Amino acid sequence: MNKYIENLTRTIDESLVKGLDPQKGVLESAIHYALSVKGKRLRPLLFLTLIEAFGKDPMAYMDIACAIECIHTYSLIHDDLPSMDNDDFRRGMPTVHKKYNDAIALLAGDTLLTIAFEKLSRANTEPAKIVNILRLLTVGIGIEGMAGGQALDLEFKGDKNIIFEIHRKKTAELIKATLLSAAEIVDLSPHEKELLAQVGTTIGIGFQMADDLLDIEGDELEVGKKLHKDHGNQSPNAVLFYGKDLIKSEIDASYRKTMALLEELKIQFPPFLYLMEKMVYRSK
Ligand code: IPE
Ligand code: IPE
Ligand code: MG
Ligand code: MG
Ligand code: MG
Repeated sequence: MNKYIENLTRTIDESLVKGLDPQKGVLESAIHYALSVKGKRLRPLLFLTLIEAFGKDPMAYMDIACAIECIHTYSLIHDDLPSMDNDDFRRGMPTVHKKYNDAIALLAGDTLLTIAFEKLSRANTEPAKIVNILRLLTVGIGIEGMAGGQALDLEFKGDKNIIFEIHRKKTAELIKATLLSAAEIVDLSPHEKELLAQVGTTIGIGFQMADDLLDIEGDELEVGKKLHKDHGNQSPNAVLFYGKDLIKSEIDASYRKTMALLEELKIQFPPFLYLMEKMVYRSK
């Protein structure tokens, strides 16, 4: 299993930087840096393994997988900026604004988002499917998705009732859109798409709860980012407001619900199930 995921991750890593020349100027250098620093590549892995789970060749859709990772990487570069979370480390390396500067980090994020849509527009897939994927991803990262969730996160004043809405928007919506993009490729029925959307929301919120837990009790070296950053009433970290025990049992519940949904969907492909488990039982 690990070998399969490792190989696929290596292919994603190589595809992400293909054609980028770090010597070509500061913007391209910063983008190359952001993409070559090793992330878990969860979103492209989810997309590709779900396609394979339904019997299609995932390699034919590498461009779309990379587009999704470009979008995610953009969100991280901006999330780390001094005006947002003000973080110096990401994926075990200096953040883009630390290595370059704030203005270049802004531009690198913007350009990664742009590159994502260029990649999508060039993907070797039926145009109607590309348009549907475009809509899924833009909704997932727009006002009702990641960007809206990030704004709620920044505005957070300690009302614990909205924490899971923030988690859903800032994190789960892109994961949901990733799964539904794969569903588009493999032509799932409307009912199957509805079940898969529930998988995305459930595992996505579970994933962010596990991220909150890592901030409290993770290993900094393994996680690759500065921990114990979420404190006071300013950060919607679920563990701070609900406690470790409750959040751990919520994480278990989100995993169990996900497994039940996947059973209903008859998705049994081991690498995809393995990724689901890794998303909520995280050490990094
Ligand atoms: C971090 O995402 C931001 C969250 C949504 C919690 P990942 O944990 O997937 O980060 P990388 O891509 O592996 O660095
Ligand atoms: C960020 O959540 C989610 C994004 C949309 C980028 P966090 O701020 O908790 O993510 P980390 O802990 O910096 O990776
Ligand atoms: Mg943040
Ligand atoms: Mg952050
Ligand atoms: Mg976090």
